[in-house]
Amino acid sequence: QLTPPPPRDLAGVKVVVSAGPTREYLDPVRFISNPSSGKMGFAVAEEARDRGAAVTLVTGPVTLPDPAGVQVVRIETALELRDAVLAAAREAELVVMTAAVADYRAAQRAGEKQAKVAGDVTIHLTPNPDILAELGQHKGQRVLVGFAMETHAGVERAALKARRKNADFILLNYPTREGTAFGGDDNEVTLVRPDGTSQAWPRLSKREVARRLLDEAVRLRTKG
Ligand code: CTP
Ligand code: CA
Repeated sequence: QLTPPPPRDLAGVKVVVSAGPTREYLDPVRFISNPSSGKMGFAVAEEARDRGAAVTLVTGPVTLPDPAGVQVVRIETALELRDAVLAAAREAELVVMTAAVADYRAAQRAGEKQAKVAGDVTIHLTPNPDILAELGQHKGQRVLVGFAMETHAGVERAALKARRKNADFILLNYPTREGTAFGGDDNEVTLVRPDGTSQAWPRLSKREVARRLLDEAVRLRTKG
């Protein structure tokens, strides 16, 4: 089966992609996280690389190997993700946030392993910074793309997020569809724009979703 070579429509363009989960440590051996596999972000990074982009991939802990020809930065916490993404994004024309950033971290990360106590415990959590929203506040000419997983009112909520974060579009998916989203090789997403218009894509491989995402980003870049 012959696949046509990818277009070189991102030649020389600096692209930043975030991927995977973050880990928010409670103590040295325990953390709050989520099941993000990193596959979607790695697919975007590889597709952008193949189209000629200079790609920085900032990723939380995942089992995937570093893609060849991509600058990979491995981080654990949301605060580390923020530092790495903001630093790399300074020169970038396109930022794609596929990372499943934990919304909260422990208000106090214990320096030593906490022994169990009798009865219930309460953990005090404090909000993490919203990296995509921070990028949106100093957007410049950059194209900003987010992802969102929703269980209900998806398009409405994703459009609201795109507006709030000043993102050009958000790819919305649902956690309930077999073989997609968390850990799957496929994804079934809806492209949602800040104005609330949307376009549902069929179930596709994550690589094909990456391809269409970059097609849309290139269209937005050239429109200016
Ligand atoms: N995001 C981010 N920083 C955060 C949280 C989310 O940059 N602290 C990015 C994600 O990488 C994603 C987009 O924002 O591209 C939407 O993430 P989502 O969790 O759906 O948005 P939230 O604003 O955290 O809303 P919710 O309350 O639904 O979790
Ligand atoms: Ca969130």
